[in-house]
Amino acid sequence: MSKFFITTAIDYPNGLPHIGHAYEKVLADVIARYRRLCGDEVFFLTGVDQHGQKMQQTADREGVNVATLAQRNTRKFLALWEKLGVHYDGWAATTDQNHKRCVQKILTTLHQEGQLYKKAYRGFYSVRQEQYLTEKDRNEKGDFGEEWGEVIELEEENWYFKLSEHADWLKEAVSSGDFGIFPEFRRAEVLNAIDRAGETDLCISRPRERLHWGIEFPFDPDFVTYVWFDALINYVSFAGYRKEEGSDLPEFGNLWPANTQIIGKDILVPAHSIYWPCMLHAMGLGDQEMPALLVHGWWNIRKASGNSDEGSDTEEKMSKSLGNVVDPGELADRFGVDAVRYYLVRDIVTGKDSAFDVARLITLFNSELANDLGNLLNRSLNMTKRFLGGELVSNNYDDEPCAGVRESLSSATTAYLAAMDEHDLPGALKAINGHVVHCNQFIEKNPPFELRKDETQGERVAAILSHLCESCAHLAVLLSPFLPAAATKILGQLRAGDIAPRTLDSLHWGLLPSGHQIGKAKPVFPRIVLEDGQ
Ligand code: MSP
Repeated sequence: MSKFFITTAIDYPNGLPHIGHAYEKVLADVIARYRRLCGDEVFFLTGVDQHGQKMQQTADREGVNVATLAQRNTRKFLALWEKLGVHYDGWAATTDQNHKRCVQKILTTLHQEGQLYKKAYRGFYSVRQEQYLTEKDRNEKGDFGEEWGEVIELEEENWYFKLSEHADWLKEAVSSGDFGIFPEFRRAEVLNAIDRAGETDLCISRPRERLHWGIEFPFDPDFVTYVWFDALINYVSFAGYRKEEGSDLPEFGNLWPANTQIIGKDILVPAHSIYWPCMLHAMGLGDQEMPALLVHGWWNIRKASGNSDEGSDTEEKMSKSLGNVVDPGELADRFGVDAVRYYLVRDIVTGKDSAFDVARLITLFNSELANDLGNLLNRSLNMTKRFLGGELVSNNYDDEPCAGVRESLSSATTAYLAAMDEHDLPGALKAINGHVVHCNQFIEKNPPFELRKDETQGERVAAILSHLCESCAHLAVLLSPFLPAAATKILGQLRAGDIAPRTLDSLHWGLLPSGHQIGKAKPVFPRIVLEDGQ
């Protein structure tokens, strides 16, 4: 058994959670549940990034106290994860006292070790990105592009972290693979960025008079900690790094390094691939103690092309200002949690972007879950009840079609495992569906309702139904990281909840023994039917 520490980005609770946030958390939840199924000891950490200028600005605009806003919106994230069945082991909210203390301890040590210095600086500052811009951030026209939002000229004293001292080390760690980055194509992007960003030091404070909503500098109370420096530390503070005596946080040595830090592509450079490893290196963590990143793409919004002659669709980013944000809670209320979880990880290649499309959500659910799997479950259980009185017989029948079912399941399981180990979640779901389709075809070609009319075929009918029920049990186990509630229902109807293996290494043909009594079929995936006008 190995340990597996999975983290996600922590979300800004300055608004409501959208499907981008939900995708990342469901992705992490599926990976965490899968690793548990592999027998690993898993710790899954997620949370909210509650400090910073964005939060303060939103609170000012809405005329509420910033702490109240953070708490109020944090509850909406918590409620959504509960609704979507996202089960984490640690909740990283950056206003937590343990986290604050940890950030302050790290600042103090870095200060004592000469990694920080104070200087005055005059330059252009992006309010949206909360960072100073350099000449290299100008576009071809010589302007700071729209992506930076409002840019103001600012002169102020601040604290700096000697990031540039770690740039050569970082380049080596990224090239050698000590610092893991998946998908591999992102590595080149990071190496390019180190050349640019590694030349300058990182401003890690904000004067309190401009930003009060942050963690106070322990040795200079006129300053608060830059939100990214604060937020990145969540990955270690909530894992028990330099925890107080008697604290119930985990043992850091047992958890670190994180095997999979799941983040979106927008926060790879510079935060997670430059600031973060350099911070860890400055804190004295070794080359073998670097985390591995899993960088996912973006859910965008499909928009009809303005030019109807083109007839093509284009995609745009989801944003509050465009008013095109998709609310995952509302989707779950309308279509069910299974449909939302399934769609979010089924219709996007991990690492690439995809366009959100509610029609696809419905189609995927209705075809792969309601029609294919739902149908297989219903038919298998109902026929077993009617033709065998619900009692299974041997599932090692030697005729060719039955052997074909066993082979199909075996190759689907192999493909599923290979895909999951590569974070290819759509590939794993396609492997599952491949076996479902095989089983449905097997029923068409060997229809028990016809065969049973011939008395000599009794043994064969019983074997066919046992193969189908056994397949359903395996499919439920394989599907459980994706659709845990549905998997439990399926196993319940098969009366296999207690005998289903907890780990994949004991998932062998023959889960449901001869004489096993199954339960009654109840629809697990009722078709989504839209009323007119919806
Ligand atoms: N607070 C920072 C992260 C700090 S981690 C130490 C942040 N927050 S965020 O709320 O803006 O984004 C949280 C996560 O959601 C990021 O990984 C981001 O990439 C992801 N997504 C935000 N919008 C997204 C989509 N439209 N699609 C997929 N994921 C996206 O950045």
